Amino acid sequence: MKILGIESSCDETGIAIVENSDNRVFIVAEALNSQTEVHEEYGGVVPEMAARKHITAITPLLKKVFHDSKLEIKDIDAIAVTAGPGLVSSLLVGIDTAKSLSFVWHKPLIPINHIAGHIAAAWIAENKADKLPKFPCLALVVSGGHTELVLIKNHGQFKYLGGTRDDAAGEAFDKVGKLLGLPYPGGPAIAKLAKTGNDRAFDLPIPMLKYKNLDFSFSGLKTAMLYIVKRRTQKLTVKEKRDLAASFERVVVDVLVQKTLQALEQVKCKSVVLVGGVAANNRLRQQLASSISLHNLPLFVPAKKLCTDNAAMIAAAGSFMFNKHLLSTWQDTKVRANWELYEPII
Ligand code: KG4
Ligand code: ZN
Repeated sequence: MKILGIESSCDETGIAIVENSDNRVFIVAEALNSQTEVHEEYGGVVPEMAARKHITAITPLLKKVFHDSKLEIKDIDAIAVTAGPGLVSSLLVGIDTAKSLSFVWHKPLIPINHIAGHIAAAWIAENKADKLPKFPCLALVVSGGHTELVLIKNHGQFKYLGGTRDDAAGEAFDKVGKLLGLPYPGGPAIAKLAKTGNDRAFDLPIPMLKYKNLDFSFSGLKTAMLYIVKRRTQKLTVKEKRDLAASFERVVVDVLVQKTLQALEQVKCKSVVLVGGVAANNRLRQQLASSISLHNLPLFVPAKKLCTDNAAMIAAAGSFMFNKHLLSTWQDTKVRANWELYEPII
């Protein structure tokens, strides 16, 4: 079974074709257009510009994916598209493209929740022998808009365990990046700077750790960073910036790892997955891997390019829906800008 996936919820336009064989997903072809350069000078995503860039990028990407895959329209079983959550004007470009293709090609349309897409990335394999996460599975979802602990009972069956009460982890990275004068997005820029910094140089508050619940909060940490920077009368030195970046990264990673370990004490699971843009962070990948291994559980983390936004993960989620016969049509597919993972799919 082959699914065409379309992603345009924020500032990446993605098209991919995946093949699903026994719920093991392989990428046949993929193409991505990142708009980072467009939004960099504004320090964040400008929705109007993002939508315009999606419009010009999407058709060439579609052509490239069909060219690279050597497949024809008849080989595609369904079209999966991100229907939310995300920026309405950006989502609409992907959805309208998907609707047009569904209408003209007579193919079913599958609306995908973007976060379900991030989770599905953990089932994308490179080889037939690769191990896959087993259910029930605990997911730590860390992206620019979400920070959640989710229990996955099966493909598409999610239970909320905890989440952020204010900023998402990626959002905190981006805001602190801006504070330190780093280019957008802040996450990779902070991680790069942190490599050469002293992660104990600044004593920062470790949010929510003393509570037994599985919630997160990053706004206090962000404010603590703001006070340190604003209290300075002179410009931050390069060394101070490195130390601030390293100390901030340490605290965020510590909280994410500790809360995941707390979740493991509260739920029974056979595997753990780490997904979303912040899952590209090396410190988080390494620290979570060593902590989880002490619990004798396998941890699955997608390749870095599959952690940040892409269309292969959307097509993968679509392939699981296809297997469950959860299909929709171009008439019934709508934008769902605030779609929660736990709401009905179709
Ligand atoms: O999943 P994603 O690509 O988009 C959303 O769905 O939000 O996540 C983007 C977020 C941004 O906040 C970005 O700063 C963060 O992921 N990010 C990172 C790293 N790479 C991307 N955060 C920390 N370290 C990284 N290496
Ligand atoms: Zn995302």
